[in-house]
Amino acid sequence: MKILGIESSCDETAASVVENGTTILSNVVVSQIDIHAEYGGVIPEIAARSHIEAINPVINKALKNANISIDNIDAIAVTHTPGLVGSLLIGTLAARTLAILHQKPLYPTHHLKSHIYANWLSGNSPEFPLLAAVISGGHTQIIYMKEHNHFEIIGTTRDDAIGECFDKVAKILGLPYPGGPAIAKAAENGDKTKYHLPTPQVDNLDFSFSGLKTAVLRAVQKELNLPITTPSHELKDHLTSQQVADFAASFQNTATDILIKKLKTAADAYPAKSILPAGGVSANTVLREKLTNQFAKTHQVFFPNPKLSTDNGAMVASAAYFSIQSGVPATDPYSLDISPRSTIV
Ligand code: KG4
Ligand code: ZN
Repeated sequence: MKILGIESSCDETAASVVENGTTILSNVVVSQIDIHAEYGGVIPEIAARSHIEAINPVINKALKNANISIDNIDAIAVTHTPGLVGSLLIGTLAARTLAILHQKPLYPTHHLKSHIYANWLSGNSPEFPLLAAVISGGHTQIIYMKEHNHFEIIGTTRDDAIGECFDKVAKILGLPYPGGPAIAKAAENGDKTKYHLPTPQVDNLDFSFSGLKTAVLRAVQKELNLPITTPSHELKDHLTSQQVADFAASFQNTATDILIKKLKTAADAYPAKSILPAGGVSANTVLREKLTNQFAKTHQVFFPNPKLSTDNGAMVASAAYFSIQSGVPATDPYSLDISPRSTIV
């Protein structure tokens, strides 16, 4: 079964053709990072306008690279929630139009579900039950899955997402958007023990990351002997590159430790066979090393291909395939709804 997957929930316009949920025949991603980097974050209106320009060429290229015509596609899948409304609108409108025009079944797909299913695209087949850690720019959740298409949220952030925290800390340090890759790179030359940052004490399997961001802010102000009233955007001008590297390494070490600790608590409480991170932050190399060290002896640990950690159309097609296998019916393209926020079900 060949599915065309379309993704436009944030700042990537992406389309992909995937066979049987696991084999990528094409994967085209047009990133808007360069456009938004100028502003230090995603500007929703600009994102939507950029999707309009990119969506048709991206879909056409995905079909061409897969050497397939739309007539030979079995189904169309598209991200319909959660995400930026204007961005979601462009991808879903394109998918609905194609579904109606070419009479293809349409499968609206939840973005977090898609991130999890990126783990099935690397030749892997994680065993159930499993624990998935969705760690992206907008979400931080631990999800227990007993089987395909069954999602139980057992932990979630009470404020910022972990990726958002990487992005905000990067801004304080004067590093570019998106902050995750920039912090990971700067941290390579840094001392992770240089600055002690507190671990938030949050009950159960929940997270809190906004305190960690503020802790970095205060530590930078203290290091520079500046008052706590100094605006965060002024600090970067006073930091040496070694200080930036040390702060990046210390922050990355603490943020990844928080995640590992919660996942360990989850793994002790739930009888999971596999552990799989998903979403943009799962591209982080230090996190991958720590996950392997912590869980390799007790669980099967899976990772998406780093290129598939961030937003793409292949994961959308894969998630739709496994939904179809679980008996989820196609949606009437005329009544497809989008939603900026929603929980995975
Ligand atoms: O999954 P994603 O592409 O979009 C959302 O669904 O949010 O994730 C983007 C997030 C950004 O916050 C970005 O800074 C973070 O993933 N990220 C990373 C790395 N690569 C991307 N965080 C840490 N280390 C990385 N290597
Ligand atoms: Zn995402």
